[in-house]
Amino acid sequence: MTSLKLFLGFFLQFIFLLSVVNAQGLTVGFYSQTCPQAEAIVKNVTAQVMSVAPSLGAPLMRMHFHDCFVRGCDGSVLLNSSTNQAEKDAAPNLSLRGFQVIDRVKSALENACPGVVSCADILALVARDVVVALDGPSWEVETGRRDGSVSNITEALTNLLPPGSNITQLISGFQQKGLSVKDLVVLSGGHTVGTSHCSAFTNRLYNFTGNGDTDPSLDPNYIARLKIKCPQGDQNTLVEMDPGSFRTFDEDYFTLVNKRRGLFQSDAALLNNNETRAYVISQLSNSSSTFFTDFGVSMVNMGRVGVLTGTAGEIRKVCALVN
Ligand code: HEM
Repeated sequence: MTSLKLFLGFFLQFIFLLSVVNAQGLTVGFYSQTCPQAEAIVKNVTAQVMSVAPSLGAPLMRMHFHDCFVRGCDGSVLLNSSTNQAEKDAAPNLSLRGFQVIDRVKSALENACPGVVSCADILALVARDVVVALDGPSWEVETGRRDGSVSNITEALTNLLPPGSNITQLISGFQQKGLSVKDLVVLSGGHTVGTSHCSAFTNRLYNFTGNGDTDPSLDPNYIARLKIKCPQGDQNTLVEMDPGSFRTFDEDYFTLVNKRRGLFQSDAALLNNNETRAYVISQLSNSSSTFFTDFGVSMVNMGRVGVLTGTAGEIRKVCALVN
């Protein structure tokens, strides 16, 4: 009888472990034994930063996306160039900001638990904590990622989708990362916060097909307003992507896209596929919007892309440098 109980105990424990550790080897609360205060430290440092520099929230969330799409979520976006040029130096990453925040979080974690928490996990945790600070949803972040040692400018250029992407390119870019059409439309909703340089969409205002024309998929009234913000040739001015609430994480993005006011061709493209268009429309009423819950689910999906776990990779001491 005792041995049967013992066997049942082990069996149940085994089933429990199987259910919390996912196929990629990530788990919620990975540091609960090795650094129990890890998530609280990340949250505190992020909250301090957000209280004085809320504009860093959007680029910090974007940083996790840019990490995951190049070599998986392995912290490769954080590495400095050395003998070769790193991802950081690729054009789409030149507008990332907030690397010093990641360094601050890392120092606090190294003080508390040296050599335990990976830079890749810091990016995933900070992405959640900034969304919460911007009044968006919260979700449970899976952790257990380890850091890679390779970062290559060319890989960033080929894996980060340009703002001029059409729906076929977007769907296939996400599919290559194991992400669904739903993940694409939901995660595009990340554009509810932050700003963009004029350079990312100026072709839609002045020279769409090379004949000095405008993009017919962009609301003409909106084009007029954008032209005032971005005179021809201006590459550097920053424009709010969700005007009026660019520092609040809300459902407005889908209303904008539906009104043909998505800033990039990649935003407008979400109206060109049955599934993505249906999702945009389903989010228009605030009362029935599922965006907040969906965003957490899709961020977890994105956080699983190409991760290094177990004994692969390393735990960097400094996020910008391989050990
Ligand atoms: C679907 C393909 C996507 C494309 C083509 C795209 C493209 C861009 C571009 C061109 C910018 C403007 C950068 C600048 O000029 O400063 C931008 C900004 C931003 N993107 Fe995306 N993006 C995509 C998906 C995502 C995803 C999945 C997320 C996060 C879940 C995200 C989050 C952001 C945020 C928060 C900003 C504002 C950054 C800031 O304020 O500095 N984007 N994106």
